[in-house]
Amino acid sequence: MASKRGALIVLEGVDKAGKTTQCQKLVQALQQSGRPAEMMRFPERSTTIGKLISSYLEKKNDLEDHTVHLLFSANRWELVPLMKKKLEQGTTLVVDRYAFSGAAFTSAKPGFCLDWCMKPDVGLPKPDLVMFLQLSPAEAALRGQFGEERYETSVFQKAVQQKFEQLMKDPSVNWQVIDASKSVENVHKDITTHSLNTINTAQTVPLGELWK
Ligand code: TMP
Repeated sequence: MASKRGALIVLEGVDKAGKTTQCQKLVQALQQSGRPAEMMRFPERSTTIGKLISSYLEKKNDLEDHTVHLLFSANRWELVPLMKKKLEQGTTLVVDRYAFSGAAFTSAKPGFCLDWCMKPDVGLPKPDLVMFLQLSPAEAALRGQFGEERYETSVFQKAVQQKFEQLMKDPSVNWQVIDASKSVENVHKDITTHSLNTINTAQTVPLGELWK
């Protein structure tokens, strides 16, 4: 019998919501309970495409807005063979940002619509679960200053939050909203509960295609 596949679990949210910390804690908890799990993140800055994106985010180069959007998407597509291989081998992937960040961030720019922004990611491996770490702009501000990278301003982050809210209305995606204002440990507990349920159900259903 073929081995059971891993689950594709994504964490999304605005900056300062604690995505990276929670991804790391989830992977650690899954591994400690004997479930194979690995973390991934987008953008994956180590590839040739990822390096271009990284220097754009660091404001070391300028790229036309459509172009950089397509590069973010290409950066996901280039990792798809690896993702599929790991999932088939039974490894659960915990992913820090995915196509939802792609659509939300670009469509928050003037002159872009959500529909166009979603198109290049249609058909990507569909996450079995997308947890949105919800944090109000006021609470995010209490967690300190934004960094120096592109997009790290409260005005832009508010626009991004609205786009995420539009994306979350799509019932074809298994969204779960997580209250990220709780303590790190309590957020971790919520995330772990949702993830364990998803890992069990994902074993019995094939991997889907996003937005198709
Ligand atoms: P991070 O590496 O700190 O998560 O930051 C990546 C930045 O890139 C963040 O501001 C969100 C943005 N982004 C996009 O604009 N499009 C995308 O497709 C992804 C994955 C991230």
